[in-house]
Amino acid sequence: MRGIPGPLLRKARHARVLLHARESEAFDRRHGVDTVAAAQIAELTVAEGDAGEGRMYVGSPPAVLRNCIPVLAPDPSGMTFVDMGSGKGRALMLAALAGFPRAVGVEFGEELHEVALRNVGLGSRIECRLGDATRFAYPDGPLMIFFNNPFRAPVLGAVLDGLEASLAERPRRAVLLYQSMKDAPPESGTDENLAMLDDRAFLRPVPVRPAGAWGRLMLRPFALRAHEAGPA
Ligand SMILES: C[S@@+](CC[C@H](N)C(=O)[O-])C[C@H]1O[C@@H](n2cnc3c(N)ncnc32)[C@H](O)[C@@H]1O
Repeated sequence: MRGIPGPLLRKARHARVLLHARESEAFDRRHGVDTVAAAQIAELTVAEGDAGEGRMYVGSPPAVLRNCIPVLAPDPSGMTFVDMGSGKGRALMLAALAGFPRAVGVEFGEELHEVALRNVGLGSRIECRLGDATRFAYPDGPLMIFFNNPFRAPVLGAVLDGLEASLAERPRRAVLLYQSMKDAPPESGTDENLAMLDDRAFLRPVPVRPAGAWGRLMLRPFALRAHEAGPA
């Protein structure tokens, strides 16, 4: 069978990139926040954590969590959402909008943390912590933990060690979502991170397949991997 011609595929890919960008801009306008501009780690003041293993700030396209939360956390009402490397807080805001009563993020870049504090506002259900993800103190109760490809394997390994210890001390359910790009170059370390998640004995892989055809089409460029831990 002949496949879809290359130029058509390229056009479809380009259209998807534009749609994600438009949606991100619309999110900022609708909520009066500032989450779009990317930032390199070298532009940030990093007081603690391994800046050399961190990945630049790029906000997660709203379509990712909008399509994945209903699959992985159909009833988020009793759960806390955690964002590892929370940047300007976009994922935290999306989680709160999706019904999580509490969303906690940790970000090591001071400038990004300041923007996140302004974005989420005072007295909201969102807590932004400044610091290194490897030292994160996990909240009590069931968790959904989000990783938008925030750091390379040495940091991810330490973060998973901390999570495993926290779940052993206070057994509870955790569902993890890892977002990266399918076409990420080998030097990005993405494949190593995905393999590490699959290798950890305390994590069980779970399928993450958005319910609608449109959602699946929009998420096609992303490598999305989900795992759960603790009682089913
Ligand atoms: C790709 S961005 C994701 C931003 C946000 N999670 C989102 O999806 O909108 C990755 C973020 O992780 C942060 N980061 C990298 N290493 C970190 C570490 N060790 N501790 C805390 N934050 C870190 C970076 O500064 C960057 O803001």
